[in-house]
Amino acid sequence: MTYSKIIGLGSYAPMQIIENNALSKIVETNNEWITTRTGIKQRRISSGEKTSQMALKAAWSAIQDSGIDKNEIDMIIFATITPDYFTPSTASILQAELGLKDIPSFDISAGCTGFIYALQVADQFIKSEQCKTILLIGAEALSKVTDWTDRNTCVLFGDGAGAAILQSSEKKGVICTYTGSQGDLKGDLTLPAVSLKNPFLENQENNNNHSHIFMNGKEIFKFATRIMIKSIFKVLSDSNLSMEEIDYIIPHQANIRIIDYVSQKLKVKREKFIVNLDRFGNTSAASVPLAMDEAYKKNIFSPEDKILMVAFGGGLTWGAVLVNWTI
Ligand code: ACO
Repeated sequence: MTYSKIIGLGSYAPMQIIENNALSKIVETNNEWITTRTGIKQRRISSGEKTSQMALKAAWSAIQDSGIDKNEIDMIIFATITPDYFTPSTASILQAELGLKDIPSFDISAGCTGFIYALQVADQFIKSEQCKTILLIGAEALSKVTDWTDRNTCVLFGDGAGAAILQSSEKKGVICTYTGSQGDLKGDLTLPAVSLKNPFLENQENNNNHSHIFMNGKEIFKFATRIMIKSIFKVLSDSNLSMEEIDYIIPHQANIRIIDYVSQKLKVKREKFIVNLDRFGNTSAASVPLAMDEAYKKNIFSPEDKILMVAFGGGLTWGAVLVNWTI
């Protein structure tokens, strides 16, 4: 039986650090509100780097970390809701930048659950022996779609990228994956694309096509707590493991109160949750791989640790992946 395992990680975040106090100069907010309601103290904001450019840096770092020759990569899967273009895909741009020839490359849009979806798809390609070495990316330039006049959302988001190399293995690295979606809840978190406009439409929409994130924070909060717990139980039961056997949980970095709630509800010590949202904010599809890479580089994980990633996001989508730590 062929399995997949993570053999390398990398991440990148823009150098520009924006503290909460800087936001209080552009919207009516303050450090106290943002810190106590979200846990976020600062975020990285692009000063010109596109999603693909941040991804390229994370990708090189993961390739180096894994020790592979880049030409071993036989697929690129790129999770993002802030692509550089509708087409070409951000994965295709990255393929060219990495100098990789002919391999399939595509983007996945599953909001903040994007990296979990990408891991699940990659795991399937490897298990079915169609691929051996897959480059996975979660990267976002959310600052370009943030409504900087909306205090409800602009304090939450940041830019960044995370990358992982997944390779075929006789040993079970990825133990279990689970994803889901509920499109009827789509209105609670939206980022519109360009609106329909052509010379043959009777009602021309007066739209300058500038797209912003809209979020019903309260509804997302309720959804997030419910669905994270459900996702965690699902991968535990599918893999016949108990909560006590899990060494670390890497949750989507949206709000510290969501993580605290899940920790209390599951009666799992907060130390088991990897958290970096205080310094990066919510980076959507980049959130889980960024947090994972940071913890890995701090030597927090040990070989054979059972690590559970869990996320929720626009769609609405959700998912979890359980891995045996292999690097
Ligand atoms: N500064 C000061 N006051 C604010 C701010 C701000 N930045 N934002 C909102 N407020 C005000 C509101 O206007 C409201 O005032 P009012 O009572 O006079 O109307 C008050 O604070 C309370 O607002 P709530 O919306 O009730 O605040 P809440 O405690 O629910 O926190 C938050 C809002 C942080 C958005 C929370 O609901 C949340 O985290 N939701 C989940 C968000 C999330 O997880 N998003 C990510 C998912 S998807 C993705 O990652 C793309």
